[in-house]
Amino acid sequence: MNKNYYITTPIYYPSAKPHMGHAYSSIVADFFARLKRIQGFNVFFLTGTDEHGQKIQRAAKKKNMDPLTFCDEISKTFKNLSKTLNLSNTDFIRTTESRHVKSVQNLWNVLEKKGEIYLSKYSGWYSVSDEAFYSENEIKNENNNKTSIVSGSPVEWVEEESYFFKLSKWEKPLLEFYENNPNFILPQARKNEVINFVKGGLKDLSVSRKSFSWGIKVPSNNDHVIYVWLDALTNYISALNYPNQEDSLYKKFWPATLHLIGKDILRFHAIYWPAFLLAANIPLPKRIYGHGWILSGDEKMSKSKGNILDPLEIIDKYGLDQLRYYLIKEVSFGNDGSISKDKLESCINSDLANNYGNLCQRVFSFNEKNLSLSIPTKSKFEKEDLEILNNFKLNYKYLIQNIDSQNINFYVDFIVNHLFAANKYFNDQEPWKKKSDQKRMSTIVYVSLELIRKLSIMLYPIIPVSASKVLRVFNISEDKIDFNSIIDNEFLKSENKINKIGILFKKIDNND
Ligand code: MSP
Repeated sequence: MNKNYYITTPIYYPSAKPHMGHAYSSIVADFFARLKRIQGFNVFFLTGTDEHGQKIQRAAKKKNMDPLTFCDEISKTFKNLSKTLNLSNTDFIRTTESRHVKSVQNLWNVLEKKGEIYLSKYSGWYSVSDEAFYSENEIKNENNNKTSIVSGSPVEWVEEESYFFKLSKWEKPLLEFYENNPNFILPQARKNEVINFVKGGLKDLSVSRKSFSWGIKVPSNNDHVIYVWLDALTNYISALNYPNQEDSLYKKFWPATLHLIGKDILRFHAIYWPAFLLAANIPLPKRIYGHGWILSGDEKMSKSKGNILDPLEIIDKYGLDQLRYYLIKEVSFGNDGSISKDKLESCINSDLANNYGNLCQRVFSFNEKNLSLSIPTKSKFEKEDLEILNNFKLNYKYLIQNIDSQNINFYVDFIVNHLFAANKYFNDQEPWKKKSDQKRMSTIVYVSLELIRKLSIMLYPIIPVSASKVLRVFNISEDKIDFNSIIDNEFLKSENKINKIGILFKKIDNND
């Protein structure tokens, strides 16, 4: 079994400050990276910034800065955001780094040598904001402003000499690939959109620009810079030291397990990227997952709409784990999700404070009062103990299967239901009434502690700081967290001391 797992986020345009949509892609990727790591996988988790192209050149010019100084500055804010979000990324790539430039030029040379690229002239619509070419039927005219039907972004007419990639040639091979690899694009609904688009006919793709200079130069013709998407997509292999295919990183981690992206950039990842790779004879990634948008009200959060919820402000006010939990639990993965402060607050109160926090608090306090903060000696489990404990083992296979098909909701629902069930178990068993039956009381507390341990392990990829805090109660340090141990009902060893912790999650009370 291949125990290597390579997950990527999109690389972000540093044309503006990071917002909640960016934070979302990164937090979800971090969730998978942490989960696979505690399952025993070697995980390579990549994120970074996409720094070339007209969009960046214009943004820099607006600030009267040269593009590299501009990128150095904003790329730093994305790097800092990775730290603030507590991402466990292995690497952070910037497309202005020489390792990346070398890799892109090499890929270009391979494509050119194979006859996949030719020089001609482009005339058509271009959206600088999407860095995308659109055909006439993808354009609408509103009050004399031409915009893309796909994204709503403004488009402008471009006419210039350009290199073209023979995308049309890969129409059939791509369709065959999708057919033979039915889970290459997920969720399924997105896959159908892609297939329909390809079936509609693929035109050759303009892959160089001549009218501006902020990009990687075409090696054989320095008048041209390489199209920013060909440049950007290559980050997924340049971070593994492509073109050195003998490099241990490349050998271990390519093809990628999962490119996690937003649905708006599916076309680039599910059509262009595989076509470039097929043409260069490089294996294709195993999966592209296009998640939905984070909406504010009914609209996509974006700078141009001015409806951005700033992740830093939210973290400052409510805490990081609170935000991570909310985004992972409340946005149905794969679909759009509208977020608001009210919903965030009620989620913190009901799930984190009342459900998880309360369970920990009650069980630990009871233990402190009656069992002097130690793991009690259990007696034989009763039917009701086994019923709840064994659920982890019974569902283990489904949990893994669902995670590996990115069905986060199944995973989170399991946790939430079992937090409720664990609270109910503690209530119903009434250990406070069993003081005359020490054996039973000890067993109930033991079972409750086991449930807290199992659930904290499951929660760790979502709320790493808080779950680690709880696991340290049992002397389980972060590097020792083992997902597989959730099926063990007798992991905790009696007599071991447990450590005290304070309140895990403060309730939000707006009357304070
Ligand atoms: N630079 C390209 C990606 C190149 S990958 C080889 C890009 N950058 S971006 O900064 O505009 O967007 C990065 C990611 O953030 C995309 O996956 C996009 O879907 C996601 N989001 C941006 N706004 C979003 C929301 N409001 N909601 C959820 N994600 C969205 O595209």
